[in-house]
Amino acid sequence: MIVEMNINDLDEITKLEKELFKLDAWKKQEYENELNNPVSKLFVEKENDEIVAYGGLWYLYEDADITTIGVNSKYQGQGYGQKMLDYMLDFALKNGVHNVHLEVRVSNQKAINLYKKNGFEVIRIRKSYYEDNNEDAYDMMKGLL
Ligand SMILES: CC(C)(COP(=O)(O)OP(=O)(O)OC[C@H]1O[C@@H](n2cnc3c(N)ncnc32)[C@H](O)[C@@H]1OP(=O)(O)O)[C@@H](O)C(=O)NCCC(=O)NCCS
Repeated sequence: MIVEMNINDLDEITKLEKELFKLDAWKKQEYENELNNPVSKLFVEKENDEIVAYGGLWYLYEDADITTIGVNSKYQGQGYGQKMLDYMLDFALKNGVHNVHLEVRVSNQKAINLYKKNGFEVIRIRKSYYEDNNEDAYDMMKGLL
């Protein structure tokens, strides 16, 4: 079951975050800030008390931005990323969002496949968007209406 993330999840989340996002990982303090940000929502899915997937979005009026999505590497390729994305898109729609945006590394083929499969389109390339290695990002968007 997917539920809202809370402060007690953050040790486990920041450990997963380091494994999945390496130098680009959000720190615990950044997650705490997001938990207190009124336009931010963070979600987790657990199996047997272990976090299998998490995701986050900002939403304000008609626009939302998927800020993160991650699946514990032990559980990747089993549909959890798709389930988390479905949940966040449904949450956005129910909260009046018309357009959902996200950025993804141009080398992150798994994530790009996931987003394209769900109707996201590349609307522009952001040059050198990622500071750790100067990599470009695809700015992707999906209309919900
Ligand atoms: C990207 C990520 C969230 C996908 O989650 P997942 O649970 O592994 O993916 P799912 O099993 O739900 O698969 C959904 C779709 O993702 C894509 N995908 C998943 N694994 C893939 C792989 N190994 N190769 C290519 N595409 C893949 C496919 O489009 C897949 O649909 P399909 O099975 O019909 O082909 C996960 O790999 C992850 O956490 N990656 C590291 C963190 C990250 O890069 N997050 C995105 C930041 S923008």
